[in-house]
Amino acid sequence: MKNVVQVDPKSPQKNVIERAARVLQEGGLVAFPTETVYGLGAHALDAAAVRRIFAAKDRPDWDPLIVHVRDVGMARSLARELPSAFEGLTQRFWPGPLTLVVQKMEGVPDEVTARRSTVALRMPRHPVASALLAAVRLPIAAPSANRFGRPSPTSAKHVVEDLGDRVDLILDAGPTPMGVESTVLDLTQTPPAILRPGGISREELERVLGRVTLGANISDELVAQGLAAPGMTTKHYAPRARIELLEGDVETQALLLKKRLAELVALGKKVEVLIHQGDNDSLARTLYAQFREMDARGADVILCPLPSAEGIGLAVRDRLLRAAGKGGHS
Ligand code: TXA
Ligand code: MG
Repeated sequence: MKNVVQVDPKSPQKNVIERAARVLQEGGLVAFPTETVYGLGAHALDAAAVRRIFAAKDRPDWDPLIVHVRDVGMARSLARELPSAFEGLTQRFWPGPLTLVVQKMEGVPDEVTARRSTVALRMPRHPVASALLAAVRLPIAAPSANRFGRPSPTSAKHVVEDLGDRVDLILDAGPTPMGVESTVLDLTQTPPAILRPGGISREELERVLGRVTLGANISDELVAQGLAAPGMTTKHYAPRARIELLEGDVETQALLLKKRLAELVALGKKVEVLIHQGDNDSLARTLYAQFREMDARGADVILCPLPSAEGIGLAVRDRLLRAAGKGGHS
């Protein structure tokens, strides 16, 4: 496609970055890689540009966006009243896959925050995202670059599939290193609450903060009314195929797998099995691409053994539970 440009993931070409920065400065949309997933970016202080993100994604206007910042100074300029934990968390985890929800400064458009008094801030660590933020010198509002409700994109091909020419420019730097989204941590609550588990684990956060809580699982109805924490819709991050979870220890899962496979095949279903080779990090990296590939092959059912909740496993379990329509976190 003519709007896709290759860029070196380790040392991004200056001319490509400058072109992307110009598109953003002029109010256009740029899809770019982060260490987690691809984002769909727009100038965060330009309300019209931000509205184009919602239109491109078919995203409902009650679901607020993450604002990506170049450094801690830019984050401070967008926030009012920074809680004391902010300093230590940003020192330890920024740049990186941690999004912090704080009280917002007045200038942040209502479109970005879905009329909330808070804003979600994150400083990404992917060299392409960092270079873009340095070149554009503006905060970039960017949700994941997928159609609303679809699995997040971990390659430029996924962005093209979902958004195609709804985006002005797509920076293709190959697959993203982590594969699941950032951890969203609400610092306006005491103790801080994980609204979405992600790239920074609960254990890592607890080492800095002491106690953190896991945000309550909130009903779709409340979310649709804009009353509950956003981004917590149960049916989310989902392939078209039906997800069937396999719980229990490894042996139990193996037995269940064999049984369900036989039963579903006997019913004439096209069944796929989520491949988990090695540790939870590698599962996280391939999860969304596997969903998309299995959909493309016409799967009816995807059998998914649930990984342990350690480290990034908590985020993977959350996405699998949501994809199965069961809500997240457990
Ligand atoms: O890794 C990531 O976080 C990726 C990359 C592109 O940075 N972005 C991403 O954005 O996953 P998105 O929009 O798909 O998810 C953002 C999440 C949503 O669950 C949203 O509801 C939540 O953050 N969020 C944003 N602003 C919020 C706020 N003020 N309060 C509570 N939650 C908020
Ligand atoms: Mg998303």
